[in-house]
Amino acid sequence: TQFTSDRLLLFGATGDLSRRMLLPSLCALDAEGLLGQDVEIIGTARSDFDDQGFRNFAREALEQFLPASRRGSMAQFLNRLTYQPLDANDADSFKALAQKVGTPREGLSIFLSTAPSLFEPTIQGLEKSGLTGEKVRIGLEKPLGVDLASSKVINDAVAHAFPEERIFRIDHYLGKETVQNLLALRFANLMFEPLWNAAHIDHVQITVSETVGLESRVAYYDDSGALRDMVQNHMLQLLALVAMEPPVSYNATSIRNEKVKVLHSLRKVRPEETVTGQYRAGAITGQAVPGYDEELGKDSSTETFVAIKAFIDNWRWQGVPFYMRTGKRLPKRSTEIVVQFRKVPHSIFNGRGAKTVPNRLVIGIQPEENITLSLMTKVPGLDRNGYGLRSTPLAILTPDAFADRQRRIAYERLLLDLIEGDQTLFVRRDEVEAQWEWIDAIRAGWEEHQQEPRTYTAGSWGPSAAIALAERDGVTWHE
Ligand code: BG6
Repeated sequence: TQFTSDRLLLFGATGDLSRRMLLPSLCALDAEGLLGQDVEIIGTARSDFDDQGFRNFAREALEQFLPASRRGSMAQFLNRLTYQPLDANDADSFKALAQKVGTPREGLSIFLSTAPSLFEPTIQGLEKSGLTGEKVRIGLEKPLGVDLASSKVINDAVAHAFPEERIFRIDHYLGKETVQNLLALRFANLMFEPLWNAAHIDHVQITVSETVGLESRVAYYDDSGALRDMVQNHMLQLLALVAMEPPVSYNATSIRNEKVKVLHSLRKVRPEETVTGQYRAGAITGQAVPGYDEELGKDSSTETFVAIKAFIDNWRWQGVPFYMRTGKRLPKRSTEIVVQFRKVPHSIFNGRGAKTVPNRLVIGIQPEENITLSLMTKVPGLDRNGYGLRSTPLAILTPDAFADRQRRIAYERLLLDLIEGDQTLFVRRDEVEAQWEWIDAIRAGWEEHQQEPRTYTAGSWGPSAAIALAERDGVTWHE
């Protein structure tokens, strides 16, 4: 199934993701000459645009969401765009779309960034109008269902028209350079891997904190909640990359085989190993913000924060807690993985009154890439009665290390891989289903125990119970 697409068909082309990420990414790729000369982009959605109307829409999106320095000649990019309005439930509408797409010279990539309820009728429409076939691949944006059962329905519907090798399930975290850097850190270095196990690692923390609230996605978010919006996909992908065994090779099959093994090894979480929260009015960096229920305009029991203590039941990770937390309206935007090593087996310095602090590797993923390892060093001095030791940060990677390199939108990588057909950074069906299975069990536990989210003040680090979840084990969340 190796082919490069010269047509890209974008469903949901007038939606928020398209405006903020997809069109800017495609334009940036074009500006750098990474999009083949003959690639045409056909947008489709319900809106009644013509080609020119869509180009105007795209121009505004680019001016708003892509820095001028990355736009290149916008005219060249805008010229690639055409548009066909579509009613996903109407067969005739697909015929017109197929005509607009025409016959690709090489191949066609389709990207579905619509409400998941439209996935099934869309796939059927594609099948009936001849927009499937061997030279067509399909990309699917999240959410892929709301639980295991609904994700299977979607996966089955897609599998009816496309073999797994031509299905590209997006998790945009995998498109982030900094997430891919996890693989470099672990597998391009000798030093970490021998220590990367329960014998030497005390625990791992994964935090994805956001300052934004509901944004404009009221209905979606209130149905979803933090667990399904962030943990089911992005956080479990991070966990899998941190915990997986070394893959044989950097390719789609090896890497995904290893990730899915981790996902299958996740222990069922007990409700008391989770904390949920919902924000109330507060302030973020001095700015007053309303509570969730005020933003929503009604009461809701949706969690905007979740913390989980997870375990991976395999040889490497037996007994090592993976503390995960994510939430909206937290004090800062930050995605970070902390690998806390164990204490030295015996400290020779105790008699000298010096304490050793266990080593810690902090992998900052957002907003800046930042990798630091803390090591103990001696404080210079001639103290007779003591021996000064200090935990000193060793900067492995600083935000300005690659200052000359372009910072990219995750979708640039992913759209390019979709067009060229590289599945390495896309989620396989068994992965997504393993993720849902684990998430469903957590939700079932909440329902059984009628667990309602606790409240937290916007701008705080979530409910105090989340702090207690770690403190009970003598662990402090890294901030
Ligand atoms: C999306 C979630 O998948 O990821 C959003 O639906 C969240 O709720 C976003 O804000 C976070 O992405 P990023 O790239 O800003 O960390």
